[in-house]
Amino acid sequence: MSPACVRLDGGGVSLVLASTDNGLPEIVYWGSSLPETADLDQMVSLVRRPHGHGQLDAAAPLSLLPETGRGFPGQPGLIGQRSDGTGWVTQFRLAQPLQPAPDGHSLQLVARCAEAGLAYEAGLTLQSGSGVLTAWARLTNEGTDAFLISWLSCPVLPAEPDLTHMVGYHGRWCHEFQRQTVPWVKGAHVRENRLGRTSHEHFPGLILPGPGSDELSGRVHGVQLAWSGDHRLVAEELADGRRQIQAGCLLAPGEGRLAPGDSLRTPDLVAACSTAGLSGMSQAFHSHIRREILPDLPAFQPRPVHYNCWEAIYFDHDVTQLCDLASAAADLGAELFVLDDGWFKGRVDDTRGLGDWTVDRQIYQDGLAPLIAHVQAQGMRFGLWVEPEMVSADSDLYRAHPDWRLDLPGLTQVTGRSQFILDLSRPEVGDHLYRALHALLEAHPISYLKWDMNRTANLSATPAGRAVGRHQVEGVYRLMDRLRETHPDLLIETCASGGGRLDLEILKRTGRAWLSDSNDAHERVRIQREASCFFPPEILGAHVGPARCHTSGRRLSLSFRAGVASTRHMGLELDPRDLSDSDRARLRTAISDHKSRRSLLATGRHYRLPETEPGRVSELFLSPDATRFLLSVAQLSMPPSSASAPLRLPMLPADQMYSLTGLSDADVPRAVNRDDRTALPVLAETPISGALLGQVGLSLPNALPDQIWLIEGRLSSG
Ligand code: DGJ
Repeated sequence: MSPACVRLDGGGVSLVLASTDNGLPEIVYWGSSLPETADLDQMVSLVRRPHGHGQLDAAAPLSLLPETGRGFPGQPGLIGQRSDGTGWVTQFRLAQPLQPAPDGHSLQLVARCAEAGLAYEAGLTLQSGSGVLTAWARLTNEGTDAFLISWLSCPVLPAEPDLTHMVGYHGRWCHEFQRQTVPWVKGAHVRENRLGRTSHEHFPGLILPGPGSDELSGRVHGVQLAWSGDHRLVAEELADGRRQIQAGCLLAPGEGRLAPGDSLRTPDLVAACSTAGLSGMSQAFHSHIRREILPDLPAFQPRPVHYNCWEAIYFDHDVTQLCDLASAAADLGAELFVLDDGWFKGRVDDTRGLGDWTVDRQIYQDGLAPLIAHVQAQGMRFGLWVEPEMVSADSDLYRAHPDWRLDLPGLTQVTGRSQFILDLSRPEVGDHLYRALHALLEAHPISYLKWDMNRTANLSATPAGRAVGRHQVEGVYRLMDRLRETHPDLLIETCASGGGRLDLEILKRTGRAWLSDSNDAHERVRIQREASCFFPPEILGAHVGPARCHTSGRRLSLSFRAGVASTRHMGLELDPRDLSDSDRARLRTAISDHKSRRSLLATGRHYRLPETEPGRVSELFLSPDATRFLLSVAQLSMPPSSASAPLRLPMLPADQMYSLTGLSDADVPRAVNRDDRTALPVLAETPISGALLGQVGLSLPNALPDQIWLIEGRLSSG
């Protein structure tokens, strides 16, 4: 019997699925739009592989849920069984013929395996705007006794056989989004996260670059899992050369127990494909995030420049000092003042106070109102730091409810930053936290919460001993959802010791991410660049820190620190009173330049330029109508040659003329050859065609390490 085929189309992308003998379908094509007339049956016969010796007579499909029961030789999409050991193999059959929704963008399917007593559903959508694929799966126990899942993958995606390597991410505190290139070999590459938050260590994303692809050209696919807890990613090559990508929640023992009638749904898997290189892939993700993920918060358009007091004062809170900081920050151009950790009862250091979300009356004798009034009088909005899921042993909350922490009787939760995690799977804990945060938001004009999570998980279990890691994550989502429902204008920032909880599911409820506790602009250039593979620039918080970076000890110029921060969601995190007059003036200008460009950052297409010279890291932000762009060129190490090669900008329309500004003489540091003016007159005076900028490129003055050029191009009117 010939396979039944369906196609989905959306956003310039086509996806073709084929089901043989009424079994679960497999993806036989995922790439740029196919002609309407494409013969799908022919396509299936084209991609069918010859049969090898030593294989089963009917090769098991690499279906959305590859099944051991059909002879699939790799990791199956479902691993589970009933308590008597049955039900572990399946042969799902479609309950209805495959049928896309009338708009042709999405498909939902239901399949059953009566022998195992299971129903499997999957939903796939090609987003019409971005071409991004979102996919989820759900398993329901239709049997009469419990079914225990230990692994349920999101719909499984194929990877092309000609790829040589994949790109994943590792990291740690202050060192997020570290690129890791892994060769494809026979067998499985597995990345597992067991830290209870999205994690610095194992970002749940994977990039599949096609042969010869680079930042601007070639075939690239990328996936990311929308989940803020434990996860597993599997990239496996079978003996027959086929390759599969699986992703899902990493379930602790017992967490996947389904009573009769119960279901387990995977998180969304979000996947992009591009024929315009890695930047094309990330532009698809950015577009999807802007259209479908970010909360709709008109009050935060444009995004205000932040002042965050953390690195200026840490736990040393004093109302007069804070008012001074607020005045100085407003004078520089800040528009939102965030009062970080240390404002609540007993919080003199990081060993105590968490859980008691009322203001410390010893320090704030008249409460938060006078500080907020002062902040508002400076024309700024007010934001507050919280870490709701946590409790310190030294807190009123813990003294009243020691049993509210995650724990196993007889075992002790290992503390992290001296704190415990509260059990958010318990409704009374969620209710208490909701009431405490709601009371703060009701009592004060607080527009913004910085929501932190400063430790990884351990012993995520109820007193009865059952694992609750998944429920814990869902408890956080519920709490945020509830608060946002009552306070629809509230913007929440996701933070977990920097970028430890940044993913597409938390972003639906947040909208800004604190990308890293590293305010070291040198480190930041790469962290920001790699994070941009998945997330758009305007949601990634980037602050100008002190001259000597607190997390690295590196000394960096104000121009470099401000330039790097200004290419994302800009903020300040220093004591502005320490600035020299000239640095203060520079910072004021950098903030005002950022304000003039923030809509370009928030709506434009973002390109990472290939790093043709090691240490020169360039990005370009192009407005949707291509009338304006911002080019940033960060020099991180000594240039290998005494004169750097011109930088080509092939994304600009060839027939347009651009006037370039931004590289003033004052920005060229003393040690650079002051006679080197080759590029400067061109920038200042003559419009240049997109063709020349693309094919010949732009020469920049010689650079020193830790310097950034910011060049703006505008369509020339003349
Ligand atoms: C970790 C965050 O990432 C910092 O920005 C700061 O808010 C501290 N926590 C406060 O404890």
